[in-house]
Amino acid sequence: MDSKVTPGGNAVFTIGDKTVEMPILKGSTGPDVVDIRKLYAEADVFTYDPGFTSTASCESQITYIDGDAGVLLYRGYPIDQLAENSSFLEVCYLLLHGELPTATQFAEFERTITYHTMLHEQFDRFFQTFRRDAHPMAIMVGAVGALSAFYHDSTNIHDERQRQISAHRMIAKMPTIAARAFKYAVGQPFVYPRNELGYADNFLRMCFAVPAEDYKVNKVLARAMDRIFILHADHEQNASTSTVRLAGSSGANPFACIAAGIACLWGPSHGGANEEALNMLKEIGTVDRIPEYVQGVKDRRYRLMGFGHRVYKNYDPRAKVMQKTCHEVLDVLGKRDEPLLQVAMELERIALSDPYFVERKLYPNIDFYSGITLSAMGFPSEMFTVLFALARTVGWIAQWKEMIEDPSQKIGRPRQVYTGPTIREFVPIEKR
Ligand code: ACO
Repeated sequence: MDSKVTPGGNAVFTIGDKTVEMPILKGSTGPDVVDIRKLYAEADVFTYDPGFTSTASCESQITYIDGDAGVLLYRGYPIDQLAENSSFLEVCYLLLHGELPTATQFAEFERTITYHTMLHEQFDRFFQTFRRDAHPMAIMVGAVGALSAFYHDSTNIHDERQRQISAHRMIAKMPTIAARAFKYAVGQPFVYPRNELGYADNFLRMCFAVPAEDYKVNKVLARAMDRIFILHADHEQNASTSTVRLAGSSGANPFACIAAGIACLWGPSHGGANEEALNMLKEIGTVDRIPEYVQGVKDRRYRLMGFGHRVYKNYDPRAKVMQKTCHEVLDVLGKRDEPLLQVAMELERIALSDPYFVERKLYPNIDFYSGITLSAMGFPSEMFTVLFALARTVGWIAQWKEMIEDPSQKIGRPRQVYTGPTIREFVPIEKR
């Protein structure tokens, strides 16, 4: 990646009796950054920023978020335009290559992905080693890490062609692995991919078809699934993406790095939030119980799941598309009167007008409506984060690839402020 940052003057710091000047760098949009790479050498101090609330860890040309304005762009294109007019595979191409494909480029890309969807037959047997009630995310972490044991011929990170093959393999095989994690948990036979089907159609079929009867993919549900994948495809330097970059910075192979990203995504503050949001709506149950529940949030007994975001201090632009998709799915399934949807809409209405939430800029995030939608489509809540991982895989790979191709890339190695004991003499066990 060729750097595109431009100089923007200097920042001057006074630290004790020293004055140091650090360059300010400008991106194409968004806040400027102070380049503090030489701070330790020149001033003998580190910076302290737990949670990285003020720290840019890399230069990137993939995804841009303006949290105050509620804007999300993939390679410059607004998320709502992509969700409305594009397809997940086209978005994959965009994220990986930086530009939307021509018709010829897209046909070739789609064919490549389609013809990599099968897993090695030995890999299918690998699933049998998990306990029958294993959480599908536990299977995902293990199975994706295990890809590096099956596809050695694409783990040389210094070979551009191997990097490309591993990217295609992961985008193609992730739905097959995710569907197997689901089938394994429900005790049904694995369903093989079919090359005449689109990406989302194929995934739904691998999840919901059974040998006992024919399965016809519902076009509205397939479009909703594809759109959900688009919405989750990338989100710049979030926790799991930063994990992928950090794991990759040591030179680890891409399959191992993506497995690390999946592990990070599993947590309830990140990818696990949609499961928590659905559980919360079920716990509230009916609209009349909302005021009591909201009071509990204000008393700080619990948080409103599916609300708030580290970066968005406005309506999450993905949540708007998700809300529309939720309505479309419930309509086609005849579940318009679903009590959980009524609770969600009323909770959103109250939260958007209540000063407690307004003052803290707490708006619905993408997870608020995704749980109801996925549940209506037939996915158990344990699968929600798996679907997120499937979609985010392309973002992780695009970010990993960008990092590997960045000439300024170094192993990620944060510093610390140490507050433990200073040097002391070892005491033998009999004298303690
Ligand atoms: N419900 C109630 N209050 C909240 C919520 C919430 N969901 N989120 C934040 N707040 C309040 C905090 O109590 C705090 O109030 P205070 O200033 O009076 O102490 C204030 O808002 C700021 O909260 P922070 O925790 O500092 O915000 P942070 O940026 O660290 O947290 C997070 C972001 C983790 C997403 C948080 O909003 C949250 O826990 N939300 C619920 C979980 C969730 O939906 N996560 C999904 C995120 S999107 C994704 O990963 C795809």
